[in-house]
Formats: sequence, C-alpha cells, structure tokens
Amino acid sequence: MKKIVTAVCGTMLCLSTANAQGADPLAPAGRWTAYTSGRAATPPMGWNSWNAFASAVDEEKVMGSAKRIVDSGLARKGYLYINLDDGWAAKRRVSDGHLIIRTDKFPSAITRGQKTPSFKPFTDKLHAMGLKAGIYSDMGRNTCAQAWSTTDVDLPKGSVAEREVGLHDYIDQDIALYFRDWGFDYLKVDGCGLRDFGPNSPKVKADQARALAPIMDLGAISRTDVAAVQTLFRQVGAAIARNNPDGDFLYSLCIWGAANVRAWAKDVGNASRTSDDISPAWGRLLVNYDSAVHRALYAHPGSWNDPDMLFIGAGDFDAAHLTEARSHFALWAMMNAPLLIGADLRKTPDALMDVLGNADIIALNQDAAGNQATVVYDSSDLQILLKTLSNGDKAVAVFNRGSGAQDVSLQATQLKYRDDAPVELTDLWTRKQISFTKDTKLRLAARETQIFRARGKRSLPDGLYLSEQPGKVNPAVDGVTRPIADPTIFRTAAGWGGTHGAGDRPQYAGWGGARADSAPYGQTLQVARKTYSSGIGILVNSRLEVRNDGYRHFATQVGVDDSATDKASAVVFTVYGDGKRLAESRPLKWGMPAEPIEVDVAGVKLVELVARSAATGNEALPVTWGGAALTGR
Ligand code: GLA
Repeated sequence: MKKIVTAVCGTMLCLSTANAQGADPLAPAGRWTAYTSGRAATPPMGWNSWNAFASAVDEEKVMGSAKRIVDSGLARKGYLYINLDDGWAAKRRVSDGHLIIRTDKFPSAITRGQKTPSFKPFTDKLHAMGLKAGIYSDMGRNTCAQAWSTTDVDLPKGSVAEREVGLHDYIDQDIALYFRDWGFDYLKVDGCGLRDFGPNSPKVKADQARALAPIMDLGAISRTDVAAVQTLFRQVGAAIARNNPDGDFLYSLCIWGAANVRAWAKDVGNASRTSDDISPAWGRLLVNYDSAVHRALYAHPGSWNDPDMLFIGAGDFDAAHLTEARSHFALWAMMNAPLLIGADLRKTPDALMDVLGNADIIALNQDAAGNQATVVYDSSDLQILLKTLSNGDKAVAVFNRGSGAQDVSLQATQLKYRDDAPVELTDLWTRKQISFTKDTKLRLAARETQIFRARGKRSLPDGLYLSEQPGKVNPAVDGVTRPIADPTIFRTAAGWGGTHGAGDRPQYAGWGGARADSAPYGQTLQVARKTYSSGIGILVNSRLEVRNDGYRHFATQVGVDDSATDKASAVVFTVYGDGKRLAESRPLKWGMPAEPIEVDVAGVKLVELVARSAATGNEALPVTWGGAALTGR
C-alpha cells in the first residue's frame, strides 16, 4: 500500500524559516533567488557586430545594420539592441584611466569643445531611432581580440598600460562611463583577460600585454578558481545596478561555459554563454546547441542560456542553405536564446530577412512564460523539443540533426496530450495546419527543423508538470559537487602549475545538472522500475525553488533513481511552502518504491523541494521527483 505523506506542520519542530539552519544551502530560502534585475523578462533581441566584422567594426557598418533593422520592420518585431563588440577601443589614457574610443572608426565620438571622445552622440542616435545600445568589455586587463588576433591592425595601441582596456582594476570607473556617461543599455563582459595572459602567452612574451595569473581554464575546472571568477562578475553586476537606478540595463556574461558558469550565471546576470564561439558551420552549431539544450531548468525570465549569436547569413547558414538557416533560428527560438543577429544587414538577402522576421517563431522565443523548451525525445539524429506557452498552447520543434532525410512519428503523448483526442498543429514556416489523433508521420529533410504551435487535450487536465514550466523552476542548489582541486595542480603568482591530473573535468563542467523529464545523466526517470515520462531529475543534496502561480495542490512521487550506482545510501525528500516544511519522506534507498507526497499549497507562493542525503558520502546520487505537478486553481 502506498503511504501518502501529508505531514501536519503545527509544531515548532516542523517549522523551518528561511535559512534557519544558518549556512546550510539546503535550508529553504523562502524566496526566489535567481536573478531578476535588468531588462530581460524575455530573451534579448538585436544585433551584434562580431560575427560580421570582428574587430574591423566601424560606425558606418553598425549604423547601416541599425538602419536596416528599422527599415525592414525587424525593430518593430523586437530586435532592439545594437551591440558593439570588441574593436571599438583605442586605448586607456594612463593619466586618468579614461577609455579612449577609436575616432578613426567612430567619427561621431569627436565632440565639439570636448577633448575626450564620447559615445554619447552614437547612443543618442540609436535611441532616437527607437533602438538600444550595447557595448563590450573584458573582465581582465585585455580583450579576446588582444589575445587572439594575429595582426595588430584593429587592436588598441600604445604602451602596455595603454593597451589595458579591460575592466581589471577599473570596474567602477568603466561601468559608470558606459552607462552613466555614454548612455549604453547593455554590456557584454568577456573573459579572455582571465584566461589567456599567463606568463607564457604569446602576447605577454611579445611585451604587448602584462601577465595576469589565469584564474580560468575552459578545459579544466580544476584549473579554475570558480569563487574568484564569480566574485568579479558579481562586482560588475553591482556596479551596473548602481549606475542604472531605473533598472534599464542588460548584463551579459561571456565565459563560454567555463568556471561552471552554466550553473551560477542565473544568479548573477541576464544572459550567459554556455559554450565557446559559434562559427558558420553545421558541426559547430550542434556543439553550441548541445551546450544549452539540456539546461532548460537553468533559464528563467531575467536570466537566459546563451548558446551564442545567430550566424544566419554566412557559411552553412547563408541564403543557399535556407534549411540550415531556418533550423538555426527555430532552435535558438525554442531554447529562449538571445536572438542577436550576427550578419551585415546592409547586404542580407530578403530570404534570410524573412527567416529572422518570422513573427510566429519570434513569439515563441519572447513568450511571457519564459519556458525554455525541454527535450522530450532524443535519439542520435532526432530530437523533439517541447515548450509550454503562456496561453496554454505548446510549441514543438522536430529536429533532424543528421545528413539524411528521416521519417518521424510525432506522438500526442510526447506533447503531453491525450492520444484519444485530436491535436491541431500549425506549421510556423508554411502556416499549414495538421490535425491528428495519437500520432502523425512527418518527413524531415537533412538538417531540417519543423516547428509548430500545438493544441490538444492535456493529459494532466488541471495543472502543469514542473517539467512543463522550467521558467518557474530554479535549481538553486543542484547537487553537482565541485571537484576538489587536483593536488597535482597548484596556483602560484605566475598562474597554475603542475600537470593535468585526475581533478580535470570535461570541457563543460556541471555534468549531472538538473533536468526536465530526464535523470541527471540522461536516463529515463525511473524509481524501482517504474518510469516517469514527466518529472525532475536532479542529484541529491539539492534544492529546487518552484514559483506557484496560484495552484492549490502539489503532488509527486519521490525516490532514488534507478540510474544511481550507490545502492546503499538513503535520501530524505522534503517539501516546503514559503519556507515552512509541509511534508517529508522516509529515508529512501535505491530499489525502494517511490513514495508519494501530496501537499496543499493554496496561497503558497514558493514551493521548495529538497533532497538531502541521510549520510555524508553519497554525493552525485540521482534522485527523482516523479510526475511532480502543481494542479487545481
Ligand atoms: C570572444 C567572445 C566572442 C567575441 C570575441 C571578441 O571570443 O566569445 O563572442 O566577443 O571574444 O574578441
């Protein structure tokens, strides 16, 4: 017989107020802790200079693209930010640390009567066009182009000190300049300065840059000082907030998934790169897509996964490759990625402008519910992504990653619809309507993504599974343990010493992160051989925050997931409502049947789900919140 746990919490013992247990990260916070400052209730949209122009950016190129954004109607559809990337800085003036703009490239920065160039006329012009303006910096002393460019042509010039145009030692001064004095609305902060200027780097050896002991390594979390990196990004965030009392800013982190940022950026900024740079090549698109697609629970209104800018308009995504260009756009829209166009819009053919301007697909990306799509079907070459929209509709994308055509059976149950009632699909590329019951056959060309808006009869009629609303679920503590620094790796004033060793991790740390409808390492959710098509998979010693949008009941079935290799350790599952304990499971071990938990959450704004190991030593044990759902309004 199943035991229903509905703990009565009238006693002092049952009460647990916010962080009553001190520094215990699993103590209920009683509030939503992910980042909500800035202007990113929906993912940012606009244009960025880097993919088209790299450091050879100039005012004419930027304004030409801005003008096309307005004239083509893309601005009206939401593409508002015009972002300068690397390449705008001439130098830092040594006498007062003021940053100097390349006036040969940005002539409007030469202002009458002023000795120091200013971007104010540039941002004024963009604002007058109804647009917003973005700028670029680096967290270290130097930028990525300064680390990687093989020519000196478009780099800052002068002495080593004059070439130091990054934020290091200048956070307060530069942030005030960008936002208060120059009027920018958006800042992208890159990370090469924290990584690429060790004593042996070519630019340091060539006396073009000062050495800065690297604190970050994209390939090895054990050579990364996660806390130090985080502290710097938080400092910049605080400076941005101070200089934008109206909150009209956007803060974008660019450390490519290093320093385990995919787990913590949601607490620090509005968007964060999940991988290294995209290039106009299909294989590279897949790498960037893969770095974000399983991380839906880490994106929320206010903070988004960023698999990098759109490369539509070049290489595998040019006008001769419309299938690939459409896939790129559809996938980025489904993932709630920032939609930042990377093309020289002065020359972009209409066929590609139509891809970028597909209002129905933009609407999926900009949907107010802020749910990044989750992967509901995953085979080697085929994936189905599903996204719940604010009006109750679903968006569905069927993606053929491979190089051959594929026949696909799309099933109502994959959309969490009943299979005995009709499902209506609208193809968002062709506007064609499809109606089916149970399943329908689709034929996908190589690299094609078909994308639909869907309506059907929901299998859970009066609520939502948590996995259908990742925008409201925050893995505040995801149980992924930081590797203890490999003792063979040590840090000196000159950088990291020693050799790669056992402490090194895969390129993107955070393997084992919380997942919707999947165990943390990718298996089907399953407890004592019972599978769950809906639910949250997470590691033990974790705390999930769930916003409750007026529902009265919360129900789930909890247990150690069958994918666990540790078969001896016990886990206790606790549900809190606004910081108060509502229910708790018995200690559960691998192989024990899932225990149902049902609680009344009427009036509760925040539900928290804590899975705590009953003993130390069983880290990385996957646990399942099977069928977890909020129901009944
Ligand atoms: C890094 C970033 C890119 C771009 C360049 C500029 O590579 O990831 O997006 O900003 O630096 O140098």
